[in-house]
Amino acid sequence: MLNEVTVTRYVTPLREGGSLPGLVEGDDLGAYVIKFASAGQGRKTLVAEVVCGELARRLGFRMPRLVTLALDPVLGLGEPEQQVQDLLRGSGGGNLGMDFLSGALGFDPLAFAVSPEEAGRIVWFDALVGNVDRSWRNPNLLVHRGDLWLIDHGATMIWHHNWPAAETSAARPYDASEHALARFAPDIAGAAAELAPHVTEELLAEVTAEIPDAWLADEPGFTDPDDLRRAYARPLLARAATVHERVTGIEERP
Ligand SMILES: Nc1ncnc2c1ncn2[C@@H]1O[C@H](COP(=O)(O)OP(=O)(O)OP(=O)(O)O)[C@@H](O)[C@H]1O
Ligand SMILES: [Mg+2]
Repeated sequence: MLNEVTVTRYVTPLREGGSLPGLVEGDDLGAYVIKFASAGQGRKTLVAEVVCGELARRLGFRMPRLVTLALDPVLGLGEPEQQVQDLLRGSGGGNLGMDFLSGALGFDPLAFAVSPEEAGRIVWFDALVGNVDRSWRNPNLLVHRGDLWLIDHGATMIWHHNWPAAETSAARPYDASEHALARFAPDIAGAAAELAPHVTEELLAEVTAEIPDAWLADEPGFTDPDDLRRAYARPLLARAATVHERVTGIEERP
């Protein structure tokens, strides 16, 4: 399971995020982006962040380290803003933390060139996990010291909202026409050849083992957290080999 760090100070809200993520300090002196367990998006969003973030890093993508953040609700008492205070007070226990990339800028497709290889790998990965949140309007990519980093995998694996239909839903195509990297001639077939063989049952077991038990408890239709972990792994395993054939909306390279 993810390492746990205790929050020692709430620094500031990060204005851009829809879920009102914040910047906090941990007892290890690290700076983290916190995603609150009590945010309106719900704990499935955090599970998706863990599964996709840990999978991405293991496949070689730059993806900040994830931890769980233990938070004493007392930290909320001094917050002037009601919305922040409510989040802090409602999120005692485990929240998601991500290494804060100091000085990182939001990716701008007009200002930063991406190679067809890198674009292909990212589009392929997003197709695998069904990421609908990497559009040119909201790329959820950061540029840090000249490199592209992936963040924000909360809006992925839509099938986890309806498990009985997960298998059919996981067979669906992926529309990449609005993808932030669609304009960079992504080499999706090349990415598939390189990455798909790494998406094995063993790797997915390792990835899903990182999800905290508390975020998997009491899911209807599942006997225990490990049962649900296997349900997360299955569609990804089934999708990996052929998902590149089902990416639509990208123009063929001349
Ligand atoms: N690890 C990080 N390091 C530096 N800045 C970050 C990091 N993670 C997030 N941010 C900043 O915070 C913003 C919001 O984060 P994120 O996109 O993860 O939140 P969200 O609430 O899920 O957003 P969305 O509105 O896309 O649903 C990002 O756009 C980015 O500017
Ligand atoms: Mg975002």
